[in-house]
Amino acid sequence: MNESEEIKRQKQYIQKVKEMNQNKRLKYTILTMGCQLNENDSEKLCGMLEQMGYDRTENQKEADLALFNTCCVRENAEDKLFGKLGELKRLKEEKGIIIAIGGCMMQEKHITEKIKESYPFVDILFGTHTLHKFPENLYKALKEKKKLKDIIDIDGEIYEGMPIKRNSHIKASVTIMNGCNNFCTYCIVPYVRGRERSRQPKDIIDEVKDLAKQGYQEITLLGQNVNSYLRVEQEKNIKFEAYEGVHSFATLLKAINKIEGIERIRFVSPHPKDFTDDVIEAIATCDKVCNLVHLPLQSGNSKVLKEMNRKYTKEQYLALVEKMQKRIPNLTLSTDIIVGFPGETDEEFEDTLDVVRKVKFEQVYMFIYSRRMGTPGDKMENQIPEEQKHKRFDQLKALVESQIQENNQKYVGTIQKVLVEGESKNNKDLLTGRTDSNKVVIFEGNKNLIGTIQNMKIVSEHMWYLKGEM
Ligand code: 5AD
Ligand code: SF4
Repeated sequence: MNESEEIKRQKQYIQKVKEMNQNKRLKYTILTMGCQLNENDSEKLCGMLEQMGYDRTENQKEADLALFNTCCVRENAEDKLFGKLGELKRLKEEKGIIIAIGGCMMQEKHITEKIKESYPFVDILFGTHTLHKFPENLYKALKEKKKLKDIIDIDGEIYEGMPIKRNSHIKASVTIMNGCNNFCTYCIVPYVRGRERSRQPKDIIDEVKDLAKQGYQEITLLGQNVNSYLRVEQEKNIKFEAYEGVHSFATLLKAINKIEGIERIRFVSPHPKDFTDDVIEAIATCDKVCNLVHLPLQSGNSKVLKEMNRKYTKEQYLALVEKMQKRIPNLTLSTDIIVGFPGETDEEFEDTLDVVRKVKFEQVYMFIYSRRMGTPGDKMENQIPEEQKHKRFDQLKALVESQIQENNQKYVGTIQKVLVEGESKNNKDLLTGRTDSNKVVIFEGNKNLIGTIQNMKIVSEHMWYLKGEM
């Protein structure tokens, strides 16, 4: 692994904080908002904190440090953060808890200004490009009792070799690229995560091999745009070292498919416009790549898609689905849809429903359009009234739920391979796992099955889960 001088420096800060905290048995809480990339960043923050002598707690009252990893893709996350900060004010006054906020929202100036003004007791603010410097910032906050703001606008490098504390022993996320170059007009991500940069093939392969050695069964490759992995590097002649034949997303899938011990490979999120034939071919021929593909639609109407700057039409999306279905046996699809984008008419929204009816997605993540300051969508004049947006959302939800029920019926009586993940949250006597198509299966079984893949007969369906029998 290419551990840089910078990471070596941060590891020295980890030691310093650890020494300061010796014999103190300190505790931290972490609240992560948003996508799987943020979850993966939080796993890195937890890794650093635990090496610095902090243990995780879910009880805010006993915490010595509270950390927020924020998201700004939709507005509701802001309300959540400010609500939490209000709660923490008392803990700050009573016991001097350290409060740190990081992530995408910190890249937005109006948010950091609001924090400075209304929540001046926050100790550390850090952005998406300075996450790796958390040990140094924490050290300074503890030692010098300073309020710190470590936010930069230039694209951060990709740092290797940071500690990590993963949430699961069975499934692991591996970030393969950062940033986005697409500038969909509704989306804030390109402004807060910067331009696309890919990790070196060797660093990814080594990480996955190491995960396999530790017994991990499932890997999810993450990126804002996974299927343009190494594309910018190729186009701009930026040097990268091909390794085990990896020079693109398709070749990366193939290389990971060969790693012994890993049984399942997933990836989120690809962009339909970059879904090249070699990727379709790789999914079809790599036995470990799951047959559920997430293919964000956003809207089913070509005019709205153009306004969204998605660079495909309704017809092109449907043609891509058809091509994939022909080549990939048992393909299932999930998607993201936004309702109420500026200017969307009832007829245009009908096109979205039409695509949903045609494709019969396994799962649909539905979002009400949320204005994001600084994006072109926010400046569009023909914003849709909230009431209208909600009406469309409910309409889509009803259609999706009826399709899920219908689709669930198809599972009943079939045999599914289920990766057993652990005890069921609602009933400790039952186990829970997931099919290749990511459906939750609940069943009775011995706890020593956790972490294995089992053949399971599906006996009934219950909207959000299936019931199985060994
Ligand atoms: N409003 C609503 N949904 C959004 N998404 C991204 N930006 C917005 C926004 N401004 C949704 C998209 C994306 C998913 C991660 O979040 O559907 O695929
Ligand atoms: Fe946002 Fe579009 Fe980039 Fe996805 S592809 S992160 S929706 S700008």
